[in-house]
Amino acid sequence: MSDLALSAAYDQIVAARTSPETRPCVRSFFDETTFTATHVVHDPRTRAAAIIDSVMNYDPASGRTSFHSAEQVVAYVRHEQLNVIWQLETHAHADHLSAAPWLKQQLGGRIGIGSDIVQVQQTFGAIFNAEPSFTRDGTQFDHLFTDGETFKLGDLPAIALHVPGHTPADMAFIIGDAAFIGDTLFMPDYGTARADFPGGSARTLYHSIRRLLSLPPQTRLFLCHDYKAPGRDQFAWETTVAAERENNIHVHDGISEDAFVSMRTARDATLSLPNLIMPSVQVNMRAGHLPAPENNGISYIKIPVNTL
Ligand SMILES: [Fe+2]
Repeated sequence: MSDLALSAAYDQIVAARTSPETRPCVRSFFDETTFTATHVVHDPRTRAAAIIDSVMNYDPASGRTSFHSAEQVVAYVRHEQLNVIWQLETHAHADHLSAAPWLKQQLGGRIGIGSDIVQVQQTFGAIFNAEPSFTRDGTQFDHLFTDGETFKLGDLPAIALHVPGHTPADMAFIIGDAAFIGDTLFMPDYGTARADFPGGSARTLYHSIRRLLSLPPQTRLFLCHDYKAPGRDQFAWETTVAAERENNIHVHDGISEDAFVSMRTARDATLSLPNLIMPSVQVNMRAGHLPAPENNGISYIKIPVNTL
């Protein structure tokens, strides 16, 4: 991981906070079935927008998809007259299916993810014995971001930071002073993301988290999930670097790498797999598309027996 990328992100955030024109507006939509926060971020001057980590509703009993979560995003974007430039994924999620292709059809925007998605495609393409036409080169996505890559959202400066550990391909997208950090840190009272999926690593996650926590203290952090911590009865998905450094129950300042790794590894050993891991991975490794229909015109979700 390049320090240059980090110091560029640092400078961007400091500049954004000192100039009101470069502070993005963020509106979040929470899907209570999958505990996922979808964020819509826009440049107030140009109305250019990005939708981050959208949700396609999926009923595993019937195999039916629907879009009531994403429809709220569409209504908001149209009401606010935003111009969607990006549909961003912080990673290939294992607990919900992406609505990015459907949202792209409704609103436009290019689908982007971290370039290490190819590793995820290789791993899960093999586990699900995907069809030969499923290429494992990331071409299902419109753009693959690399660590430190800069881009613009209207007039807002933005930078992608590679933050692996939960999965190999996790990216944080920092737009102005707002960092969309996917599954790395959760709210301070809930802790951190699991690191036991194929290709995950608690040690790598620790380094990615320290990288995020070296951003300016007032950086706004937007999370992909919340599960309400004991004693809290509201869902929450926004915090700051300062709050995480001071209070994160798993990784506040002073917790060593080894202490984090042993806590994370012990905790992960107690967790069952997410309910929607089978459909989520098969759809999300295809950039949110269902597997290609078979010769009867129907798409199928597979379940590998005794494998995961
Ligand atoms: Fe995740």
